[in-house]
Amino acid sequence: MIHPIVAYGDPVLRKVAQPVEQDAPDIRQLSEDMFETMYDAAGVGLAAPQIGRSVRLFVVDGAPMDDENLKDFKKVFINPELLGEEGKEWGYEEGCLSIPTIRADVYRPEKVTIRYVDLDWKEHIETYDGMAARIIQHEYDHLEGILFTDYLSPVKKRLLKSKLTDISKGKVSAEYRMKFPQR
Ligand code: NI
Repeated sequence: MIHPIVAYGDPVLRKVAQPVEQDAPDIRQLSEDMFETMYDAAGVGLAAPQIGRSVRLFVVDGAPMDDENLKDFKKVFINPELLGEEGKEWGYEEGCLSIPTIRADVYRPEKVTIRYVDLDWKEHIETYDGMAARIIQHEYDHLEGILFTDYLSPVKKRLLKSKLTDISKGKVSAEYRMKFPQR
C-alpha cells in the first residue's frame, strides 16, 4: 500500500524513533509498503517516520541512481546503529521526499559503518562509502529527528524559511501524495 509522505513541519519528523521490537507483527508489511511508497515517489531512501511511523527502520534502493556501486543496494535497515563515520567530508546536493522542491549541498564524511538487523532478524555490520554511505546517513538522520536542512548555514536557512513554511502548509507541488501538518 502506498502511504502519503509526511511533509516538513510534522512533529513526527522531529521525534527520535523507537526501536522495532523483534517479532513485531507488521514489520514485513511495513517494509513492503515503504518500498512501494518510495518507488511511487521516485526516491532512493525512505525512513518510517516519513510515513508517520516513529520506528527505527528505513529502506533504500539505489538502482535508479545509475551508479554501478548502487545497483544491488536494496535493503531494509532495522534498528540501525551508526558505529562510526570516517573520511573526508564531501558535499552533495541532497533532497528529501518530505521537503519537495528544495535541494542543497550537505557535507558528510565519506564512509560509514552501520550495525542493523534485517527482516529475518539477522545482525549485520557493514561499511559503505560514496553515495551508499550518504543515503544511509540521510535516512539514519530521519530516525534521530534530523533533516538535511538542519545542516545548512544560518543564512541559507533564513533564505529557505518561507519556502519551508509553504511546504508545511501544502503550498507545494509534489508528484506523489503527501500529508501536510498545517492543512
Ligand atoms: Ni529524507
